[in-house]
Amino acid sequence: MATPLPERVCIVEVGPRDGLQNEPETIPTGIKVAFIEALAASGLQRIEATAFVHPKAIPQLADAGEIVTRLPKTDSVTFSALVPNMKGLERALACGVKRIAVFTAASETFTQKNIQMTIDESLTVFGEVITAARSAGVSVRGYVSTCFVCPYEGDVDKADVLRVCERLLELGVDEVAISDTIGAAAPTDVLHTVGFVLESIACERVALHFHDTYGTALANVFAGLQLGITTFDASAGGLGGCPYAPGASGNLATEDLVYMLDRIGIHSGVDLERLAVASRLLAKHLGRTLPSRQLQRLS
Ligand code: COA
Ligand code: ZN
Repeated sequence: MATPLPERVCIVEVGPRDGLQNEPETIPTGIKVAFIEALAASGLQRIEATAFVHPKAIPQLADAGEIVTRLPKTDSVTFSALVPNMKGLERALACGVKRIAVFTAASETFTQKNIQMTIDESLTVFGEVITAARSAGVSVRGYVSTCFVCPYEGDVDKADVLRVCERLLELGVDEVAISDTIGAAAPTDVLHTVGFVLESIACERVALHFHDTYGTALANVFAGLQLGITTFDASAGGLGGCPYAPGASGNLATEDLVYMLDRIGIHSGVDLERLAVASRLLAKHLGRTLPSRQLQRLS
């Protein structure tokens, strides 16, 4: 018999980082802060607010320091920021970040294009970042990009995914986010690769991060639920993409995820109507309709 579905899950809202990093127009810091405040008011418990990457690499997130200092003062939300190296960590610590995310990938070519390092080099750099973060009382998530399909190399070996996840956990991350960066996976890929990873790693340590390029993201979440996963990333309105991954489109839309979880009867703590308020605020500023089906239905 299949494992019963979890009763509750945690959604990690990545719109302010994964979503906005791909927007070509600069969005004023005040709009981003208002967006994050509205997200926090919707019941989301985890929000990735920004990234301390090189401002020339991702100009859209050059205001990371100011974003962090203007985050809502609330204990009900854990805010995090993406950090690519020691320089990024120094900047993050200087403004009081309490949780960071580091990122590598399961495919060599993608890692090279994204952060100009081999996977092993990135693990060495991140080993130092993770150690320094933890000794400053900062917890760390580790993203593993391109876990199913790489835009340059094609199908990714599940053994490579497991190896990178295990190394990150040994280095001190408390969670690995197994990511389908270009949104190409199907539920069978999730059962195959994530199922394999879960033979060695506890499911509480694993989050799933899907993009919806081919419309399979919700089906992939359902495969994850069947495996017992309880942490899923999503992006308000379905914003998103990675500038270094050709073909990567928006993340799974948080509204669509919340609708499906509500309908199944799985508690996420997120109020769909209030979430739509956040997405509408941003859509209004961007002057376009965001891809989320539920957002369009509610508008
Ligand atoms: N924040 C601000 N400045 C940074 C920085 C950071 N995180 N990392 C490096 N720099 C500065 C260095 O201080 C140095 O400045 P200097 O020339 O004035 O001394 C300069 O950038 C070059 O440093 P270097 O270590 O060679 O970095 P790089 O230019 O090779 O950049 C990355 C490497 C990874 C930091 C950069 O490519 C990056 O931020 N990429 C973003 C990747 C990303 O966000 N992808 C999407 C998420 S999946
Ligand atoms: Zn992503």
